[in-house]
Amino acid sequence: MDYETPLFFRVMQYAADADGDVIDMVSGNPDWEPPAALREGLSEYAGADPEQFQYPPSDGLRELREEIAARRNVDVSQVVVTNGAGEANYLAMARALERDSGSEVILTDPVYPYYPGKTTMLEGTQTYVETDDAGRLDPDDVRSAASAETAAIVVNSPNNPTGAVYPEETVRELVSIAEENDAVLVSDEVYDHFDLSGAFASALSVDSDHRIVTNSFSKSMAITGFRVGYAVFPKNLVESARSRHMLVNVAGSRPAQHAVLHALRETGPDYYQANRDRLRERVETFTAALERAGATYTKPSGSFYVLVRFDGFPGTLENVERLIDEAGVAGMPGNAFGSAREDWLRFALVTPRVEDAADRLVEYFG
Ligand SMILES: Cc1ncc(COP(=O)(O)O)c(C=O)c1O
Repeated sequence: MDYETPLFFRVMQYAADADGDVIDMVSGNPDWEPPAALREGLSEYAGADPEQFQYPPSDGLRELREEIAARRNVDVSQVVVTNGAGEANYLAMARALERDSGSEVILTDPVYPYYPGKTTMLEGTQTYVETDDAGRLDPDDVRSAASAETAAIVVNSPNNPTGAVYPEETVRELVSIAEENDAVLVSDEVYDHFDLSGAFASALSVDSDHRIVTNSFSKSMAITGFRVGYAVFPKNLVESARSRHMLVNVAGSRPAQHAVLHALRETGPDYYQANRDRLRERVETFTAALERAGATYTKPSGSFYVLVRFDGFPGTLENVERLIDEAGVAGMPGNAFGSAREDWLRFALVTPRVEDAADRLVEYFG
């Protein structure tokens, strides 16, 4: 499978170049405010001493790592602050593949396309396990696919693009399967604050030397441009991941980490709740319109995305471009996410114009 980046860029470029007004539902960039304390932390930083403008510790500001460790109930030595979940996933997958315990990476289909891209880059091979229509992953299917060749099982819940949230039994089973096959479960939890179902379970709830949890503040604090994420490693896997992080990056961005630390300390649950409430409203508005347009769709239990199938209008790149030109709504083609949903389109609910977009789709397809 090709890397996803060119396709993303291609669709966004096409939408930007279009003549008419286009509602962008392509990217996963939140359109809402970061926490007030994030802005405060950033302003404060402008007046800091010059020494604060120099390298932070490679694995992240100590206080930020301590804050993360306390919240996740792990030892601070297990936390590496990364350049977003993107780097955290890379470190986790590289760590799994360098163990000499197989070169196969089990992924779901539909898949977040950076995982197959990173697998290829790291010289692993992809094995796909299909989820059901609602995006649910059956651990028995993963068990059947797993073998001594399996280095990693990479999952994401709440899921991009299906919106599925894996229940605790699933997470528990996935950790067991990783243990049984001497593999590593990589659990990407970047949308954990966008669980609309209440059923989300972090893989950290299952103690094991065979699971790595990745996360970031990109989505939870609406700061995809800040590049602050982290991975929690088992103690036996952390050391070489830390070295890889240092050799690739030297260190992360100190002002961004400072601002995130301040925001973590000062932001109460209301901020996250308000973001979930907004998302829930958008899901309702958008899916009600899809209903009127006669579409088939997955109603997300979490994350920002809705997968949609319109009869007689497969979600090819060509049709995505047609929809941009003729309806003024930009989504992503389904084949960007594997082969299971080639006929589908993915729309991201991170625009204040969800209602407008919904009306346009009803008018176009209804
Ligand atoms: C599932 C998933 N993982 C990771 C990322 C990247 O996160 P970050 O911006 O923290 O690198 C995204 C961004 O859309 C995502 O959807």
